[in-house]
Amino acid sequence: MPRSASYRRSVAARRDVHEVGTFASSSRSTRASAARRRKIEALAPWFHNLHFPDGTQTAPDHFLGGDFPAFKWREIAPALPARLDGWRVLDVGCNAGFYSFELARRGAHVTAIDIDPHYLAQARWACRQFGLESRVRFRRMEVYEIARDPQGFDLVWFMGVFYHLRYPLLALDLLAQRTRRLMVFQTLTMPGDSVYAPQPDYRIDERTPLLESGWPKMAFIEQRFSGDPTNWWVPNHAGVEALLRSSGLSVKSRPAHEVYVCKRVTRRQRPIYGSQLESITGLVQRAAPRRRLR
Ligand SMILES: C[S@@+](CC[C@H](N)C(=O)[O-])C[C@H]1O[C@@H](n2cnc3c(N)ncnc32)[C@H](O)[C@@H]1O
Repeated sequence: MPRSASYRRSVAARRDVHEVGTFASSSRSTRASAARRRKIEALAPWFHNLHFPDGTQTAPDHFLGGDFPAFKWREIAPALPARLDGWRVLDVGCNAGFYSFELARRGAHVTAIDIDPHYLAQARWACRQFGLESRVRFRRMEVYEIARDPQGFDLVWFMGVFYHLRYPLLALDLLAQRTRRLMVFQTLTMPGDSVYAPQPDYRIDERTPLLESGWPKMAFIEQRFSGDPTNWWVPNHAGVEALLRSSGLSVKSRPAHEVYVCKRVTRRQRPIYGSQLESITGLVQRAAPRRRLR
């Protein structure tokens, strides 16, 4: 049906307004993306490759290859509850916050700690970009300082930090004590998956079993590993399982290479262990007053 001239004029006018509006908003989003890219550059170098909705990424050419840590997360995520509403999570060594953001998107409230102000600046900025400020809080904190806070967390995310610690078992014991439901643990490991089941006890001169490849052990790095002087210890798989067990955790699943999803086991620890941990906790608390992590 033929339309009147005034009808055609009004359609054309509405189209012009729409196109001007679309152009204005697309040039606004181009400017926002350019500003985001500048900020990413200013905050470099990045260890976590974060993806923003406009397609911008923070570390697209990661030295670990692929899209790190998104590819790890895709392997681990199915081993976790799909929703974490009401869960309190502690992300230890959060770096730029990749895992904190994913866990917050599942409904958790996350306390994320790291010692490095560079990474925390990245994490705080990215958190604002994702609009997750009400769900994730970042603290500059040394892992051992957790001894100052007696409260527990439903999920303790302890990935990529254990081997950076000079006193790794102290950190593991402290974190295991604060784990209410799950711990997700990852460390560098030695090659091999063999497990030698030690007897409950040995004579003082029976040393050969210690040389078995599956005997629980950790290699000590006196100098550097991968150019990094903060890589101190590399356990074997049997060592990881034994350490976790001995800290009161049991391995539920291994969803990815070197990743262990653990449950807290409620059983009494050996008294010698408890008293050492109590005295260290006491020392930390006397050095600095108790602090509740929200
Ligand atoms: C290899 S990155 C792992 C980052 C992240 N957890 C992941 O799995 O992708 C190690 C992180 O732990 C932090 N870190 C190292 N030692 C720490 C310590 N003693 N206390 C708290 N954070 C620490 C580093 O600053 C760094 O961000």
